[in-house]
Amino acid sequence: MNHQQKATTYEQVTQEIEATLQGETDLLAAMATLVCLLHQAFDSYIWTGFYRRVGPDKLLIGPYQGTLGCLHISFDRGVCGACARSQQTIIVPDVHQFPGHIACDPNSKSEIVVPVFDRAGGLIAVLDVDSDQYNSFDKTDQRYLEQIVSLLARFEPALVVYYPPKEQPNAK
Ligand code: SME
Repeated sequence: MNHQQKATTYEQVTQEIEATLQGETDLLAAMATLVCLLHQAFDSYIWTGFYRRVGPDKLLIGPYQGTLGCLHISFDRGVCGACARSQQTIIVPDVHQFPGHIACDPNSKSEIVVPVFDRAGGLIAVLDVDSDQYNSFDKTDQRYLEQIVSLLARFEPALVVYYPPKEQPNAK
């Protein structure tokens, strides 16, 4: 897939996700739908899914498509943990060169992990996409995937994700 085909596919799948989520209010339903449409759009995607933030430094598997993913990832482990820690997208051209990479699917060769924020800018999850080819992901993927996950900011996280306890300014 060349650069133009990739951009066109992202344009189409972004529209499809937006249209399908119109009127939806449930975050979990939105995550599952987004992952399904994204996963089907690219042949090279072998694993597409969310890890939800469920504690100050803990991620737990969310909706995904692909082979069995590990359930728990702490912020100090793997590409997902590094993304959650830095709150920045991480592109890994060769997973074997990333220190601490967690190999859930041995066929994974490259990956991108994108932070997901709520409307207040808090980290609620990361989106992890794995490819069976090296060097699959670049700035184009980053741009579109960040745009796609930003669609989730309008949903109420409810019980799906962790919220840090509110500051109690006058608490004794
Ligand atoms: N590779 C990820 C772990 C998740 S799976 O690939 C599904 C990581 O290193 O964080």
